[in-house]
Formats: sequence, structure tokens, C-alpha cells
Amino acid sequence: AFAEAFATALLDWFAVHKRPLPWRFGYEPYSVWISEVMLQQTQMDRGVDYFLRWMTQFPDVASVAAASEDELLKAWEGLGYYSRVRNLHKAAKALVERHDGELPDDPEAIRALPGIGPYTAGAIAGIAFNRDVTCIDANVERVLSRVFDIDTPVRARPAAARIRALAAALLPAGRARDFNQALMELGALVCRKKPQCASCPLSGLCESLRLGIPHERPVPGRK
Ligand code: ADE
Repeated sequence: AFAEAFATALLDWFAVHKRPLPWRFGYEPYSVWISEVMLQQTQMDRGVDYFLRWMTQFPDVASVAAASEDELLKAWEGLGYYSRVRNLHKAAKALVERHDGELPDDPEAIRALPGIGPYTAGAIAGIAFNRDVTCIDANVERVLSRVFDIDTPVRARPAAARIRALAAALLPAGRARDFNQALMELGALVCRKKPQCASCPLSGLCESLRLGIPHERPVPGRK
């Protein structure tokens, strides 16, 4: 019953409060991919600006594959972490050669592409294809470490494994697109570094709030 209460409260909140981000209309896999790569190490406002410009210049996988690395680097200029754009180029070429220019929906096949780790593979499979797969970023870690009062360092293996297991157990079948984004959105808008528990849909379910210590979670570091 806890999992149902958690998912219902979270999904109802998301339906009302989600931001109208540009990739949240069609959920085209290519758009989800580009947005998720851009948002790694990039603030949302900046990410949205770059995303919109990128999409006019490179509207699909084939246009990325056909571009020169210089053109791609120029469009990426200012975002930093330029290995991300080099890997995008490699992955786009692999997709054109091996997958007809389409992203596969299978998390393992997505994961096999250059530059795509567990987070991005989960985001594409879960958010674009609505497969029953989770994706865990720092926002999700923060929310779950507070709701479940995880008292060990969040990036160390025991906490990371627990968070993965909790996310998978809480995910309602068939709702991965909204569930994954709702957890991230809650972390970005409410369960922030300074938590806004008075506006949180999960406040009645949150163990660290019950104990009066949500600001002490997550425990930082790897050990
Ligand atoms: N941060 C990274 N990806 C996101 C998404 N899909 N929704 C909200 N925040 C995000």
C-alpha cells in the first residue's frame, strides 16, 4: 500500500506542477536523448536554450551523423564537457549504420552506444519509450534518501543499491515516463537542497521529515 500511496501522490503532483519543457510534448526519443545529455552538468534554463537551438540545427539523428565534428562543437560551445558532443556524434553514426537512424527501445541496446551510461539509457527507455525502467540522478537520490531516511553516504554502494531497488519497487507498471520525471521534478522544485516540505506531496510518507532531519539527507560523499 505504501508504493501505491507514494506513486499516486507523486504522479498527481506532477500532473499539476510539471514544467512545460520543450521535450515534454512529443517525447520523441531523439529529443529526450539530446535533452538528457545536455542537462548533465548544465542548469535547466541554459539547457532549454541550447536544446531549442540544437533542434533547429540538427532536427534528427541523421543530421547529427552527417554533421562535421566542428559544427557540432560550435553548437555545443559554452556547455562544456565536450566529450559529450563527441560521443553524440559517434552514437549518431552508429545509429545510422546499425539501427536505421532510430534509437532502440531496449535499455541494454541503448546502453551499448558511445557515451550512454545507466542514467541516460534509463532515461531514454523509461521517458521516451515508457518502458518499465528507472533512471536515477542526483534529484532522485535526494528525494529517496529523505523519504526513506537513508543514513549512509548516498554515492557509496549500499545506499546506491538501496535507491535503485526502491525506485524499481515504487515504479508503477506502465507509468515510467511520468514517474521518472516526477521524481526528478520533485527534486528540482520542492525536495531541493533546502527542502520545501510544506509544499511536498510526499510529506506524509517521508521518514526523514517525521524525524525532523530532512536537511541531513542525503548523507554526502562516497564513504
Ligand atoms: N533533469 C534531467 N532530466 C530531466 C527531466 N526529464 N525532467 C526534469 N528534470 C530533469
